Amino acid sequence: MRVLQVAAEATPFAKTGGLGDVVSGLSRFLGRAGHDARVFLPLYAHLARERDRYTPVDFIQGVPVRLGPWRFTYSVLTTPLPQSDVHAYFIDCPELFGHGEIYQGDREDSLRFALLTVAAFECAQRMGWTPDILHCHDWHTALAPVYRRAFLDWDRLFRRTKTVLTIHNLGFQGIVDLSRLSDLGLDGHAKLVDLSPGNLNFLRNGILHADALTTVSRTYAREIQTPAQGFGLDPLLRARGDRLVGIVNGVDYDEWSPETDPRIPHHYSARDLSGKSAMKGALLQGIGMEETAAPVLGVVSRLTAQKGFDLSFEVLPELLARRDLRVVALGSGESRFEEFFRRLHEQFPGRAWFYRGFNNELAHWIEAGADLFLMPSRFEPCGLNQMYSLRYGTPPVVHKTGGLADTVEPFDASTGQGTGFVFEHFDAQGFRWALGQALDVFLQRETWERLMRNGMAKDFSWDRQGEEYVELYRRLAG
Ligand code: ADP
Ligand code: GLC
Repeated sequence: MRVLQVAAEATPFAKTGGLGDVVSGLSRFLGRAGHDARVFLPLYAHLARERDRYTPVDFIQGVPVRLGPWRFTYSVLTTPLPQSDVHAYFIDCPELFGHGEIYQGDREDSLRFALLTVAAFECAQRMGWTPDILHCHDWHTALAPVYRRAFLDWDRLFRRTKTVLTIHNLGFQGIVDLSRLSDLGLDGHAKLVDLSPGNLNFLRNGILHADALTTVSRTYAREIQTPAQGFGLDPLLRARGDRLVGIVNGVDYDEWSPETDPRIPHHYSARDLSGKSAMKGALLQGIGMEETAAPVLGVVSRLTAQKGFDLSFEVLPELLARRDLRVVALGSGESRFEEFFRRLHEQFPGRAWFYRGFNNELAHWIEAGADLFLMPSRFEPCGLNQMYSLRYGTPPVVHKTGGLADTVEPFDASTGQGTGFVFEHFDAQGFRWALGQALDVFLQRETWERLMRNGMAKDFSWDRQGEEYVELYRRLAG
């Protein structure tokens, strides 16, 4: 099958969270399974600085493109995704992507990602390649099904192409004011574009027009159809409920396995856990903490309200004051969370540690070197970190929501079944309770190792999860 993926992120080229991991992991899987998958993303400034690494596609150079009143010119470069034959194609449009960060605010980004979307169609056309499936991700490229219909040439050319929109996070919808419509070349398409309630919402329009909708876990697929988690789009999602399926994300175990992870100095497996203690020692030493038998609680997260760390404001200082444990946190985001972890670091020197920023290597070290992984998310479409932590023998403490509910089974010490600690109600009491359970089990070494092994045995590989996408693609393509 021919599958075009168009997205704002694809690891390792562009990543701010799980979106990048999923776009690449799914595409690599499709390649392994014998499909012709191609990924389109922008040549961001940080990629443009290393443009020599990529090969220009000689028949897509200096292409003029019109979007409403705007005239842009772009070229395309390409390289395979690492460890794969699948090619990533980079839209090189310096005016829009040649400066600044990956994201620049909805207003700027609406134009930037509309150009990406339009260019993906044009490139397919110039390649003489008609995809069976055009798969777009999150609000950034959600207008793909709209552009397909809006432009008559494409409606003819891509007549057989079915569109799939994956919602990785309903919290971001790409909402801009109506004046943007003409900038995006859509002002002549009033019948096609839904402008209720008085703005242009990228995600809403994608949901309306895509042939199929997916989200990244079964529980989240249900949750987003409720007012509590629907971010205002639940009526529409209910109306299109027959088109919506939840498919849990896969994990790229080539990247995230304690047996082979090239980013960590000590390796281990469920059969031989000795490297895990060595990793704990290395992590503590690396951050200037003394070695200890006390449990190390790890955090790797975007620090936004979604991730639920407001629950730790009360609970972590209280626990650190009462019990012998360590907290090692990596993340960045809203200042109230950064401030909290920074103060914790100051207040409990040698016992709490915080690194503000994005650091992939350190993320691997924490997954491997911590004893417990904290993910008290308020909502979580899927979440990858809890699945990574399961594989690294670092049982997660999670709120029962979205993908966390689908991938972490509550541990029952009496039967030895389960993989982590799960609290139902999103409040400090719930989080405190789950952490208390975890710290008690941690003291029983044999039981703890059983728990670690249960999690390490779980398989969320793309080879399993990816099949569900292929089945969906097949159904759509007929
Ligand atoms: P989300 O996409 O909502 O941020 P996920 O759990 O799906 O949550 O994916 C997060 C991804 O981003 C993981 O690969 C995680 O390791 C990575 N990540 C998050 N914050 C950081 C950080 N500060 N430094 C390095 N990697 C991070
Ligand atoms: C989003 C979600 C996260 C999910 C990721 C990849 O960023 O917040 O839960 O795992 O996308 O699908």
